[in-house]
Amino acid sequence: MKGNDKIAFTAEAIALMRAEKGTDKYSQYFVSEDIKKKFRRISRVAPKRLLDKIFVKRIRLSFELDKIIRDYRPTQIVELACGYSPRGLILTQKNPKIAYIETDFSSVIEKKQEIINSLVKMGKVKKRKNHHLVPLDSLEGNFFEKLKPFLSKNKKTLVIAETLTSYLNEEEHNHLVKSIEKLLGKFKESAYLSHESNKMLSGVLGKLLLFYRDRVAKTRSYKHFKGKEEIRKYFEGRGFKVIRLSESKRTNNFFYLVS
Ligand SMILES: C[S@@+](CC[C@H](N)C(=O)[O-])C[C@H]1O[C@@H](n2cnc3c(N)ncnc32)[C@H](O)[C@@H]1O
Repeated sequence: MKGNDKIAFTAEAIALMRAEKGTDKYSQYFVSEDIKKKFRRISRVAPKRLLDKIFVKRIRLSFELDKIIRDYRPTQIVELACGYSPRGLILTQKNPKIAYIETDFSSVIEKKQEIINSLVKMGKVKKRKNHHLVPLDSLEGNFFEKLKPFLSKNKKTLVIAETLTSYLNEEEHNHLVKSIEKLLGKFKESAYLSHESNKMLSGVLGKLLLFYRDRVAKTRSYKHFKGKEEIRKYFEGRGFKVIRLSESKRTNNFFYLVS
């Protein structure tokens, strides 16, 4: 199975949101002139207050995931569809012991690696041996074969997917979960963390942004679960033993950490 790499452009949009709101010192470097130009065009017609609301809500989702990650205390992280998220960079700069393997389509990984290399040259980040960027289509399956040069079987491992599953139809989503399940089985202690939005972007501006995204990426948004009970049943049905669920009313998301 193959993913749709036109979705890659959404990674820049999220980087722009983080850079605009100054969430971290790295996101600004992942925003291209082209996306800045597009944003300026949108800002001319869209009320600032509404754009702010969308940006803050999306950023909060990352912060809420960060909290779940901190509580799980992994020593090894595999982030699927990492985009230009600064999480891997932030964590490995702070902690040289955590192994962080970021994956996305090759177009995103190559660009991200190039930008990180130039940040190293400029002295803005330190080169870290525990930070790896690996091109990987999340739908190609057999993750372990591709990732094993970077993985250690004895580490407490967390696989993360932040805003990936909403791009996948039911068959693709089932395929992804099967591949993750196989990967988790390779470690002594491991879990998968993701989320399900219970509300799409609302309002006219939200609908317009989704329309724009869907036209450019030739994609659409899918929901896989109506609520916590459906999430529980789905993962129990696939043999997962520990299912931790939480809900965020502020970001309209259900989070699941399963193993
Ligand atoms: C909305 S962005 C989110 C990026 C990142 N998780 C973040 O929070 O900043 C969606 C990401 O999913 C990636 N993506 C979508 N389908 C994928 C697939 N089949 N394999 C790998 N990456 C995929 C895109 O390339 C893009 O980087």
